[in-house]
Amino acid sequence: MPGGLFPLGGPVSKENLVGREEFINSLIHRLSEGQSIMMAGPRYIGKTSIAYEVLRRLKENGAYTASVDFFRSIPSALVELDARFF
Ligand SMILES: Nc1ncnc2c1ncn2[C@@H]1O[C@H](COP(=O)(O)OP(=O)(O)OP(=O)(O)O)[C@@H](O)[C@H]1O
Ligand SMILES: [Mg+2]
Repeated sequence: MPGGLFPLGGPVSKENLVGREEFINSLIHRLSEGQSIMMAGPRYIGKTSIAYEVLRRLKENGAYTASVDFFRSIPSALVELDARFF
């Protein structure tokens, strides 16, 4: 139901992300300390939405961020780098 009351499908935007505030803050805290994180969970539990929101907030705070989507084919693998990287 794209554009509907409850978006379904891929990662949701920050406006549509419900809850998870405490978890997001704990991830930001751990990453800021240089720790690595692996998130695992059932399908559609919100892993990617949370990861993107964590990256968005870190970038907002001045961190360099990047994301790679390994589910895309290699030639079209998505690599998003903060423009400030270059
Ligand atoms: N915290 C949340 N707030 C709002 N919607 C959510 C939330 N968590 C999951 N969803 C719903 O689940 C869908 C899938 O979210 P997302 O792609 O982030 O999950 P995922 O765990 O990465 O899924 P997959 O296992 O397929 O990679 C979203 O489109 C949304 O409908
Ligand atoms: Mg995902």
